[in-house]
Amino acid sequence: MTARRPTAHVLLVACLCAAALLGTTSAPSVSQTYRERGAYLVDALAACGNCHTPHDATSKPIPGMELLRNGKRPDRTVIGPPMPLEFYRQLSDRDAEAIAVYLKSLKPVRHPVPRSHYKLSQPPSHGPIVGHVAEPNPRDKIAYGAYLAGPVAHCMECHTPRDGPRLDMSRLGAGGRDLPDLGNPEGRTVSRNITPDPDAGLGRWSDADIKAAILLGHRPDGTKLARTMPFDAYNRMSSDDVNAIVDYLRSLKPLK
Ligand code: HEC
Ligand code: HEC
Repeated sequence: MTARRPTAHVLLVACLCAAALLGTTSAPSVSQTYRERGAYLVDALAACGNCHTPHDATSKPIPGMELLRNGKRPDRTVIGPPMPLEFYRQLSDRDAEAIAVYLKSLKPVRHPVPRSHYKLSQPPSHGPIVGHVAEPNPRDKIAYGAYLAGPVAHCMECHTPRDGPRLDMSRLGAGGRDLPDLGNPEGRTVSRNITPDPDAGLGRWSDADIKAAILLGHRPDGTKLARTMPFDAYNRMSSDDVNAIVDYLRSLKPLK
């Protein structure tokens, strides 16, 4: 395992150099710097602040890409739930790197936080060390939407029921998870069914209805969604990205 670390590091540097050399001439998404891409991911799509604000950045050094994605700290201890690591393991090399670059560029904030306490014992790791994860193709709208809704914006983390410690992938998007209501310290809220089922899910919603829920936090009948649904962050998402997510949701198996 230790032998892989320098390799990963060299690869990273190689990626960064390649990106610097390519400059702004390739695909539109590459014209963003790593920092800009990271800012967009952290503040808009990935909604990290939903759990990490007011402690966006601690005074501690922030682990590099390979640690984030593997759910380990620099001291090799394992990061526990609810950090959505099942999905973050699938972040592309570029996106994981962009997030790390952006986090490292933030002004350090001194805000000591207590250690987490878990009632159940945690697994010794989140799985084998993550190797290369390729960039998804933005032209394949459904696959790209799946990448955004899963590894990046972790929609499917909150909107998929659990089967023990793991997500029940046979019920992807069926909702029903009981979560803390982030706008109301004592309250609870339940994630909704976002599959295309016409009765239980979003089957009868227009694209505009779904986008209003994601970006503005209200339903077609005008009622507001609980703040656990991170619409404040998603509000900064590009229209291409929200369209890809809607296309992907429409492609899911309808579930009751
Ligand atoms: C659903 C809530 C949630 C989301 C979303 C989330 N995190 Fe976390 N994160 C946590 C929790 C809780 C911990 C602490 C876990 C523990 O103590 O083992 C944590 C730990 C971490 C750590 C380890 C820090 C340390 O000092 O140990 C890093 C780095 C981190 N998160 C970065 C991110 C980034 C970057 C994002 C967005 C891409 C993100 N997190 C999204 C809940 C979340
Ligand atoms: C941190 C957990 C969390 C994340 C991440 C999340 N949601 Fe939600 N979402 C919820 C909860 C909880 C509700 C229900 C809120 C309520 O009933 O007031 C909800 C409601 C919704 C609704 C309204 C459905 C209805 O029938 O009322 C839609 C649509 C939706 N989410 C889509 C998404 C999409 C798409 C993403 C990713 C871009 C996403 N959610 C990410 C927790 C989350």
